[in-house]
Amino acid sequence: MKLQKIILVGVAAVFLALQLVRPAEKVVTTTGPNDLLAHHPAPEAVRRLLAGACDDCHSDQTHHPWYAEIEPVGWWLAGHVRDGRAALNFSTLGALPAREAVHRLDQCVDAVNHGEMPPGSYQLLHGDARLGPDEKTLLTAWFQAVGDRISAAEK
Ligand code: HEC
Repeated sequence: MKLQKIILVGVAAVFLALQLVRPAEKVVTTTGPNDLLAHHPAPEAVRRLLAGACDDCHSDQTHHPWYAEIEPVGWWLAGHVRDGRAALNFSTLGALPAREAVHRLDQCVDAVNHGEMPPGSYQLLHGDARLGPDEKTLLTAWFQAVGDRISAAEK
């Protein structure tokens, strides 16, 4: 009984101590000149889908939920956002060479069509991110159209 108490207090102390150590980069909300949408304005419906289903991890406009303030959840989320942005960042996509940008947009079409993106764990917590068939069609058609436009401009 006594040992259990000590362990419990120990766990609580570690949990509280964790709250004092924060991931370096948490709230960044900027749009720069290289934002994909600055170069290729999207219809309102597409913007809403991007904001609801992709931007938290694939843009510099991350909206952190309240539970991001609780460690180690905050670290876990920050890691997701870092990996997501490293793979694809709509806020800087405009700075990529055309061929690479088109490749990323192709990957977006595939990821959405195959149901790989947005990740299942994210959909659990974000109703906006559960895309229906029509929403998938709308979003992938836009990715495709922007990719085609970038390719055509290169020729
Ligand atoms: C909860 C965070 C999160 C959300 C939301 C999210 N992604 Fe991702 N995405 C990631 C992470 C992390 C990676 C890199 C690791 C991986 O490939 O699983 C990734 C990778 C990708 C890649 C590269 C995959 C490849 O083929 O190499 C594409 C493309 C992508 N995401 C598109 C999207 C699109 C489009 C949306 C919105 C419909 C979206 N993602 C929503 C976290 C997210």
